[in-house]
Parts: sequence; structure tokens; C-alpha cells
Amino acid sequence: MPAYKRYTVTSALPYANGPIHIGHLAGVYIPADIYVRFLRMNDADVIFIGGSDEHGVPITIKAMQLGISPQTIVDKYHDMIKKSFEEFGISFDIYSRTSNKIHHETASAFFRKMYDAGQFIEKVSMQYYDEATGHFLADRYITGTCPHCGYDKAYGDQCEKCGTSLNATDLIEPKSVLSGNPPVLKETKHWFLPLDQYEPWLREWILEGHKDDWKTNVYGQCKSWIEQGLQPRAVTRDLDWGVKVPVEGADGKVLYVWFDAPIGYISATRELTPDWEKYWKDPETKLVHFIGKDNIVFHCIIFPCMLKAEGSFILPDNVPANEFMNLENDKISTSRNWAVWLHEYLEDFPGKQDVLRYTLTSNAPETKDNDFTWKDFQMKNNSELVAILGNFVNRTIVLTEKYFNGIVPAQATLTDADKAALEEMKKFPARIAESLQAYRFREALSEMMNLARLGNKYLTDAEPWKKYPADQERVGTILNVSLQICAQLSILAEPFLPFSAKKIRDMLNIPAMKWKDGDKLNWLESGHQLNKAVLLFEKIEDAAIEKQIQKLLDAKKANIAAAAAAKPVKPSKPEITYDDFSKMDIRVGTILEAVKVPKADKLLKITIDTGLDHRTVVSGIAQYFKAEEIIGKRVCFLLNLAPRKLKGIDSQGMILMAENPDGSLRFVTPDEGCLNGADVK
Ligand code: 2FM
Ligand code: ZN
Repeated sequence: MPAYKRYTVTSALPYANGPIHIGHLAGVYIPADIYVRFLRMNDADVIFIGGSDEHGVPITIKAMQLGISPQTIVDKYHDMIKKSFEEFGISFDIYSRTSNKIHHETASAFFRKMYDAGQFIEKVSMQYYDEATGHFLADRYITGTCPHCGYDKAYGDQCEKCGTSLNATDLIEPKSVLSGNPPVLKETKHWFLPLDQYEPWLREWILEGHKDDWKTNVYGQCKSWIEQGLQPRAVTRDLDWGVKVPVEGADGKVLYVWFDAPIGYISATRELTPDWEKYWKDPETKLVHFIGKDNIVFHCIIFPCMLKAEGSFILPDNVPANEFMNLENDKISTSRNWAVWLHEYLEDFPGKQDVLRYTLTSNAPETKDNDFTWKDFQMKNNSELVAILGNFVNRTIVLTEKYFNGIVPAQATLTDADKAALEEMKKFPARIAESLQAYRFREALSEMMNLARLGNKYLTDAEPWKKYPADQERVGTILNVSLQICAQLSILAEPFLPFSAKKIRDMLNIPAMKWKDGDKLNWLESGHQLNKAVLLFEKIEDAAIEKQIQKLLDAKKANIAAAAAAKPVKPSKPEITYDDFSKMDIRVGTILEAVKVPKADKLLKITIDTGLDHRTVVSGIAQYFKAEEIIGKRVCFLLNLAPRKLKGIDSQGMILMAENPDGSLRFVTPDEGCLNGADVK
């Protein structure tokens, strides 16, 4: 370590059209920050690049909706995002933005070089156009059904459900976002990157060259794209917000946001240092892109093709993309306000950045989507950070304060347990380094906590409080060993928990250290004066967690109300007589049992106490409710519906459900005094 001369580490440039949330941190910025902090502690020459992506249609749409300029939007969110990153200790060397002049110049020159070398196909093609508003409809100005997965809210450039990168003309039943009308096709000239021509090279570079070192999820996505067959892709758009296309006859056209955004990494490096070229052009530099899974195609296929075509740049060595972090079993969504916003988190949990960093890393969606829940956050804080790491460090420092006035006591004769603890402690830096270099951040964090566990157990087993004051020399040795472990923790925790690592260093009264310092056994010399103990972590009470859960429930309610308001309530059905109605025997009952019907996604087999008997009903609600959740529920049901067989099970009746205008289902729950068998009329 380090095997490379230098490192260029980039993290996806977030769109400056909203604040950032835990999904951003978990997927991209925390792993990137851990990696970079680790490299810096190894004296690597590393630059960590971030910045706001300030072009693209989502920004112009938002500006239009709010009746303000795109610049006003990006100014507001760029500042807000930058502040959140600073507050959470994301240690960029530069956090830039793509509306900067230097970026426009860099992206423009990049395009021009490719253009002059004849690397684009110039094509007049038919593009969707909104006749009502007079706009060509690029990317997110158009929605429709994804031809791959059938998702009906896919955008003109990508389906967010299956991740496929699309051209607007691929969409089924396209609709303009501006007017809601179906668009018409109109002629327009654009420049295309002939991705198909790069296919043999991509096969060799990725499918053969990175089979073993790229993450399975990343490699798998690349393979499937390459094997589906790559198409030429337009890299210009008819828009007025973005980097102007720097060629004659391109008035009113800008570079496609996904052409200019990754060049933003290069522009930011130019802004950071005049010596920028070595970070992008020297083959001894290792380039690593940290991104979320929705950005894989752009960073593994399109941007590398651009870099290769331009000719003077290195290619990424790795693209350790993460999957998505969900929130309380639901996809994080800005539009539905289903998110934990970083600025709001800090209002509710001031000073607790590391608790979130810890929870998000220990649960990082490294190989599959994962779930953040507030209960788990509380458990990780109370049972791990407080009970293990905090407890060990605080006990050690408080006891040293109490017995030795905060002066590091001497090590006398070491017992086998002391020697074993010190020897074991020495193995952690190499072990954690190996995980970090392989981008296995969860594993690395869990190893760091194993060292805290080791310290905690050592101290508990050694019981210095029982030996004081009778055997002060032994007590001194135990605390000396414990303090060495604390010092080791202050080194190894730094990439993950930088705020807490600093607190430990401050208590120990030691400076920031290098990773290799962790190989030492005796960091703290006897006689060294410690500072006063401060609490590393504090317990999070139920009330604080309930408040967060309530916030999410409120967001859900507001969404249902908004969806209901947005969707019309179904009109009335044709009139019927009372006789028609009275043929239905509707009763009150209680669900006694519920199980999923095997090999049927939608069906639950439910046993109901009808007041007359216990009967089985097969109900198509498995996608909305878990079997175990509905046991004990009071329901209304149709008793005299003719029995029918579903998946070989006799269904005798039907549970009544209310369907909201947005399609969500709820039980029709009888009032409390209703007894089983009561007749509903
Ligand atoms: O998905 C996004 O949020 C994009 N703004 C990421 C861009 S990454 C890079 F290419 F700039
Ligand atoms: Zn799709």
C-alpha cells in the first residue's frame, strides 16, 4: 500500500434540484469518504472530487413549475447540498458545480476535440415535439411506458424501475410533461456517439478485463447492456439550459447532461490544481468512480467510450456502485417525501453525524438493496455504539482519571490475557485495510467494532475496579493495555466515524495518526497526560424514534390525500333496487389465520370466524398485506358468494375491501361493538 502512484476518486455529482437524503449518503458519499480517508492515512496522493450536476431537464422542469430561473434553483440547492456534505464530514478536496465557467470550457473543448476527430455521427432525425408549447421533448420532458419492464412512468432517457437507458422514441404511449399531450415527431439535427462501434472494445475491456475485480452487480449490468446490443446515442439536445454545442449550426442546442456531467469530474480537478493532468492522464493513477446503481451505464459504458474516443485520458480502474437504500420497507422518493433529509436529521439529532454514518455503513446496500429503519438505527446506536465502543473508551478513560489522575500508568508484568489482547489488536489494521481496498466497507466497519468488542471484553474480564486499591500495579497495567486499544481505535475508526475518532484522540491527547501507526503495540507512553473524558455516544430514547416514525406516517398520509385529490373518485355505478342489495349476505367476522398461497404472488388463504362457522376465503391481497399482519383483524365479508376454487383451494365468501382512488386497498373494519356474525345491511 499504496500500489498506485496516485488516486483520483470521484463521487456522482448530485442534481442540484433538491436536498440530499440518507440514500445519497449510504450509496455513494459515505463509502467514497471512507475510502479516501483511508488512502490519506496511508499517505497516498489522492484527490476526492465532488460537485453539483446543475444541468438537465429535471432542473428546468422544476424551474418552470416554480416560475423561477434554473440558475436560482441550482444556486439554492448547490449551497444546501454542499453544506450537508460538510456537516457529515464528506471530505472532498473540491466540491464544484457544472454551471462554472471552467466546466463549460472543459466540456465544450472535450466535445470539440471529438467533433474535430470525426467521432460523432451527425444525423437529422425525428424527435418528439410538443406542439402546444413549442418545445422539443428531451429526456424527462417526456414520459411513457418502458418497453422492457412495462413501468408506466419511465422517462425519455431512462426507466427508473428497471434501470434501462432509453431513447425517447422507445417509450410506449409517450406523453409530454409540459402539456400532458401526446407529442408529434419533428425533424431536428443532433450529434450521436456511435456506441455500437465501441462494442468489441467494451467486451474486451469490461467483460474480459474486469470480470474478477468489478462488483457482480456492476459487471452483470454491463454485460446485459453489451449483450442487448448498443445503439448510437444522441449527445446533444434542443434545450436552452446547459453547455452550448460548440459547432456551427447548433443554435438552441446544448450538450446532453450525461455528456457534460462526468466531464465535471475533470473540470473540478482543473479548478482544484494546475497540476490536474497527472490525475487524469497518467496510467499510474488509479481512477475510481463511486456511484449508485442507476448511474452504472453512464460510468461504465458511455463515459469510458467518451474518454477512449478523446484519447488522452485514463479509464476507471473500478466503479464500485452500490444498490439502493430503502426506508422503512419502501423506496426512497423525493416526490413522495419518503426520505430522511440530512438537514432535517441534524436538526433532530444535532452532533450525531457519526451515528448515521455508522448505521448507513453497517447496513450499506453493497450487494443488494437494503433497508434503513429507525428501530434499527436506535438499536445500532444503543446496543453497539453506546454499549460497545463508547462504553469501552469511556470506562477506560474515566477509570484512568479516577485511579491515576488521567496519567497513563506504566505496564508492569504482562499476563497471557494482556499479551493476547495486544497481539490480537495488532492484526486489525491489515485486516481492515484488506476489506477497504476491496470496497467491502460493511465488513471493514464490523472488524473495527470487533476491536472495540475485544477491548470491552478484555476490560470486563480483567475487572480493574475489583483490584483497586489493593493491586495498583496490576490495575495500571490493565488500564495501560486498554488505553493502547483506545489509541488503536482512534486510528481505525477515523475513516468511518471521523467525529468520534477525533473525540477519542482529544481525550487521549494525541494527534491524528497514520494507518501504519496502528501496527505499534504501545502507543501511549506511561506518564502521558490524558484530557478529561467526554461522552462518545449517548442513548437514543424511544420518544425520539417515535417522532421520526410519526413524521414518515404523516408523509404517507399526506401522499395518500394528495394522490386521492389528484385522482378522481370513481363515478357511481348504475342504480339497483333494495332487492338487488338484499340478496347479498354481508357479515362481520374475525380473521383467525392467514397464510400465503404457495406459488401465487397475490393470494392469501384466510380462515374467518363468521359467527356461524370457521371458513376459508382466498383473497387477492398478498401484495398489499403480509399474512401475519392481518391475523386478528375484524372484517366485513360477503357470506353467500357462490364458492369457487382458487389454486385448488375452496374459497367460501369474499372479504370486503375499500379501494382508494390511488389504487391502494384498505379493510372495511366494523365498529368496536360489532360481534362476529352481525348482519351488515
Ligand atoms: O443521478 C444523478 O444524480 C446524476 N446527477 C449523477 C451524475 S454523476 C456524474 F456523471 F456527474
Ligand atoms: Zn423499465
